[in-house]
Amino acid sequence: MRNSEPVSGKHSNISTPQITVLDTGGQYTHLIARRVRDLGVYADVQPSETPASELRARKGVIISGGPGSVFEAGCPDIDPDLVTSGVPLLGICYGHQLLARHLGGKVERGTRGEYGPAHLTVTEQDPLWNGVSESQIWMSHFDTVAAVPPGFRVTASSGVSGVAAMSDPARRLFGIQFHPEVVHTRAGRRILENFVFGICGAERDWNISQRIPALEEEIRRIARDRNVFFFVSGGVDSTVAYTLCLRALGPERVYGIYVDTGLMRKNETAFVRSVFAELGATHFLVDEAEAEFLHALEGLTDPEAKRLAIGEQFVRVQERILASEHFLDGHWILGQGTIYPDTIESGGTAKSDLIKTHHNRVAGIQALIESGRIIEPLTSFYKDEVREIGRELGVPAPFLARHPFPGPGLAIRCLCSRSRAAVVASSEGALLPVRSVGVQGDVRSYRQVLALNRAPDREGIESIAPTLTNERSDINRVIALCGSKEPLEAFSVFAATVTKQRLEVLREADGIVREFCLETGFENQVWQFPVVLLPLGVAGASESVVLRPISSVDGMTADVVLMAEAHLTELTKRLLNVPDIAAVFYDLTHKPPGTIEWE
Ligand code: XMP
Repeated sequence: MRNSEPVSGKHSNISTPQITVLDTGGQYTHLIARRVRDLGVYADVQPSETPASELRARKGVIISGGPGSVFEAGCPDIDPDLVTSGVPLLGICYGHQLLARHLGGKVERGTRGEYGPAHLTVTEQDPLWNGVSESQIWMSHFDTVAAVPPGFRVTASSGVSGVAAMSDPARRLFGIQFHPEVVHTRAGRRILENFVFGICGAERDWNISQRIPALEEEIRRIARDRNVFFFVSGGVDSTVAYTLCLRALGPERVYGIYVDTGLMRKNETAFVRSVFAELGATHFLVDEAEAEFLHALEGLTDPEAKRLAIGEQFVRVQERILASEHFLDGHWILGQGTIYPDTIESGGTAKSDLIKTHHNRVAGIQALIESGRIIEPLTSFYKDEVREIGRELGVPAPFLARHPFPGPGLAIRCLCSRSRAAVVASSEGALLPVRSVGVQGDVRSYRQVLALNRAPDREGIESIAPTLTNERSDINRVIALCGSKEPLEAFSVFAATVTKQRLEVLREADGIVREFCLETGFENQVWQFPVVLLPLGVAGASESVVLRPISSVDGMTADVVLMAEAHLTELTKRLLNVPDIAAVFYDLTHKPPGTIEWE
């Protein structure tokens, strides 16, 4: 945890949370707190072992789901006093199992995981089910509750193993095996509302726009007579944090430095420059670092090695800038766009943590943090709340509506291969000698890709791809062929790394896709649309492009979005006009089991 002085929480006149979510390490922990805030109630996230004495003032506590098993030594636990503290509790998934175990129920080790949709039927009414009699629900678990604790009743069934829901309404203790926080659980919002308002008696106290004057005041208090500089990324968080400081301190006192890694999308630097000009920034500097990043990536093919190299290169560039601009003298403090999920070590996705950790570990930045010379105005807020602040501050709407873009940039969409290998024909199509990252439960996988010799359609997305990824342990992703210059059987994967030339091909393809999506309005139908480059093809046209349009609420789960057939035909034609591109594919894999990014 950081020891900076955040412009948030206990340091300002922002009220204390009414609901606390205890983090057992699950990927949905923050989503629960966000859902509660969406209801207008201030919620925070704390470590699962937080002493019950620190939670007594809360109106309610939610224990999150997580990847652990109560049968593993050292698994995340809660303070045993919490279950008798009188604070209303809702255990979700692993939290449900923890509650059962602490209260004398029985948890059983699962024989196989249950992931995905199921149907909930309420069998016994209680305050959690107010207005709910049945619902589609989302399951992601391994262990189950086999017997409820004394005093509890089973209150719902789900057709899958174990207790789907249990409660002891008199003690205000509730446990549910499914995830009410994900959108796939249709009655999820209602269930959380029932807990937060009906059971805990929380009041609405969370309003973003009303908090802005206090945030600006706090920035002035922390900055005193010192100037603030930011490493801006062109992303929403750092831009909104920068704009808050700009409004609070004026343009003469706020500097923005943008590192051009060479791993950005087409025209990105010019676009970011224009946005900062529009915001009224007078001190905006671009640091050209493409050559350094390409050098750092030389020879690398493994996804984690690439991510690490990029993170470390960021560190070196930041240190160079800190030294050269004399920012370490007493007149400067560092501004950062850290948002709430970044402040909790186990939160967020492991991959994004990796990169952010590296940024925060720069020795020069560490020195600034240790001497309290850092300002992080957004540490209390989630992404959608940051957008709302941005809107209030006049950050241009198209900028705030931008699709998320990963820190390591196009490098993690430019797949590499150590050696040349032929594709292997299979009954369904071709098994590609290319591996990509996936996720099941909370566990990451790194497996091969199966290419179907058929065009993308509903059946492929909803039936063929899920069946294949469930049945075959060698793959985690299925793609469909939209068009190619040669038959798939003639393709090979070539030895390849991230090079300037390959990035140019990817940038070109990504630019074609983006332009097409703006033209057709498809841009607004998707949450994100990564374009991935594979070193797959024939001599003379040795690259393939995979289209990965998805819808999502927060990037934690994602559904494939199918493009209209006529549009896809046209887009494929445009992409195949690029000389290096041999084929165009469409990713049919939802998340889970595939991740949004391929690496
Ligand atoms: P995955 O691939 O894990 O991605 O399904 C979920 C979301 O996170 C983004 N992403 C990143 N964002 N730094 C970031 O700032 C990263 O290293 C990173 N990796 C993935 C991804 O684009 C998607 O929106």
